Amino acid sequence: MLYYGADYYPEHWPEARWPTDARLMQEAGFNLVRLGEFAWSRLEPAPGRYDFDWLDRAIDLLAAHGMRVVLGTPTASPPPWLMAQHPEAFLVREDGLRATYGHRRCYCPSSPDYREHTAAIVGALARHYGAHPHVVAWQIDNEFGSRCYCERCRRRFHEWLRARYGTLDALNEAWGTVFWSQVYTDWDEIPVPVATGGVANPGLALDYRRFMSDLYVEYQALQIQELRRHSQGQLITHNLMGFGYEGLNYYDLARPLDLVSWDNYPRGFWATAQQVDPAAPALSHDAMRGLKSASFWVMEEQSGPSGWETMGATPRPGEVRLWAYQALAHGADAIVYFRWRTCRFGAEQLWHGILDHDGRPRRRYKEVKQMGQELARLAPALAGTSVRAEVALIHCYDSRFAFQVQPGNPAFSYAGHALDLYRALHRRNVAADVMAPTADLSRYRLVLAPALHVVAPEVAENLERYVHQGGTLLLTARSGVKTVTNTVVDLPLPGLLAPLVGAEVEEYDSLPAGATQPVALAGPLAGRPAGQATVWCEALEPRGAEVVATFASGWLAGRPAATRHRYGAGQAVYLGTCGDAPLLQALVGWLLDEAAVRPALAAPEGVEATLRQAGGRQLLFLLNHAEEPREVALDGAYHELIRDRPARGTLRLEARGVAILQKA
Ligand code: GAL
Repeated sequence: MLYYGADYYPEHWPEARWPTDARLMQEAGFNLVRLGEFAWSRLEPAPGRYDFDWLDRAIDLLAAHGMRVVLGTPTASPPPWLMAQHPEAFLVREDGLRATYGHRRCYCPSSPDYREHTAAIVGALARHYGAHPHVVAWQIDNEFGSRCYCERCRRRFHEWLRARYGTLDALNEAWGTVFWSQVYTDWDEIPVPVATGGVANPGLALDYRRFMSDLYVEYQALQIQELRRHSQGQLITHNLMGFGYEGLNYYDLARPLDLVSWDNYPRGFWATAQQVDPAAPALSHDAMRGLKSASFWVMEEQSGPSGWETMGATPRPGEVRLWAYQALAHGADAIVYFRWRTCRFGAEQLWHGILDHDGRPRRRYKEVKQMGQELARLAPALAGTSVRAEVALIHCYDSRFAFQVQPGNPAFSYAGHALDLYRALHRRNVAADVMAPTADLSRYRLVLAPALHVVAPEVAENLERYVHQGGTLLLTARSGVKTVTNTVVDLPLPGLLAPLVGAEVEEYDSLPAGATQPVALAGPLAGRPAGQATVWCEALEPRGAEVVATFASGWLAGRPAATRHRYGAGQAVYLGTCGDAPLLQALVGWLLDEAAVRPALAAPEGVEATLRQAGGRQLLFLLNHAEEPREVALDGAYHELIRDRPARGTLRLEARGVAILQKA
């Protein structure tokens, strides 16, 4: 089922307006609305006194206009009475200060009082709506995150550590607490990494991130339990925040959910970028699809200019539609716009929806409506199709958390580096799955593992197995440096990966801000346009590998910068730097050739091409992200579904235009 709709807050508008909204939604082709999220004070105005009548009326009205409903559990924004009753349910921030009332996401996920109220409201909602024929899904809370550092969390952390390490001796050994005389003699002495503690032990800092992530998974489980107990056949999801968010381990959070959904704001919140980088939302879509290796929903799709105190750029004509098609192109099965109508009050007055404050349909509504009409025609062709990739990008939360603690170089960003590598695929229209380092990789021809910093023995084994059986693997600088307890390995780098890489890092250099080093390509890479080393330079010493790039100037001139090692039936390539776009393009281009991976279509710059497939049926999506029209050379005879006409030879795409093609 293909869903199309918006996030709607009927409680923000006079009830007399609701029928107009429902009619406009129906005319736009909507079949889904998300309701209820953040409505706790309207759903439970006083402790234990529930009022669902208004929501019943809203659902009935929307259902009468053909809409299905996702109900949000309202726990991201507790009512004032709850927090006044339980001041200890407020989270404590990293600076050690306890949050106070005013914003949302102010609660501590370990609070027993908060959990009790959560179970009560979620249970009451599930009992009331769990068999409702028009409620098809639940969204738990809103965008989990916000670490807490309160005393209760500190005690819960101790329990978590006991379960992980068993004894204090083991913990002291694992973290290396002998450094600065931090050997713990009682669990109760162990702090949480608040700012007042200064630079925390890296082992403690990594474990606290893991613990907080687990705590949210546990808090989510409480809601899942209530929902499952009282509901029948309704899907359960949470709205995640894409690849850009790095506070929680999304693999763990997604596991117990029926489906992943996420919130996509390509023009950014307050971002001033003139251009949207289409690779960024593409990577997020692929990362969200990878969490469960399944299609996903976009629960909030940007539909207007966004911001709280200040505002980002207005989506240009065609962009809202283009972004929504891009989501479908990457495997989304639902597009839900945030939000239906821009609110006149509250913190998000500047966060625009499809309609402006005055509720009149204008350009953005017309664009959304146009797409709604198109989707009605496209839905049968899209049904059952999904994205299949031959390339995987490894996304490792342990490494990401460890880099939060010690980025190593101030210019280094794990997410940025991963995006740079991904962009080299995206630029060539090669699809990728974003996978955990322990995932079964056997179906991929090529695996890119950016800065795999923390390497557990089972991860090294997984990668070795993959390469040994014929896979091609790329690893980049700062891989294999850390153990799972965030200490540095007692091995030549890249640590546990060195035998696979067939080379060792002889010495390294963390580059000053903005500095780069030219790289000369060699061996099988020779002749491709070269680029620059950035952020890190690692001089490699081959131990069986061949040199495929060297540093071309500076004190490392002539030293190996990249190697290729044939290992079993496959090969492992190590790049001893982060690399600028030309260098990554050269390397990834070569690896795609080596692994015989074909693009969806070779298209001009700015045109993204992806495939959704089912059995032998293929849908080719062409998305023109450029501000000018583009001519695309087709590789055969197609039928263009949106405009319902044959297409062959050269296809013209308007600026921000979209075409979906089925092989004729
Ligand atoms: C999202 C959030 C929405 C809304 C939006 C604009 O991240 O899920 O509830 O607040 O941002 O701030």
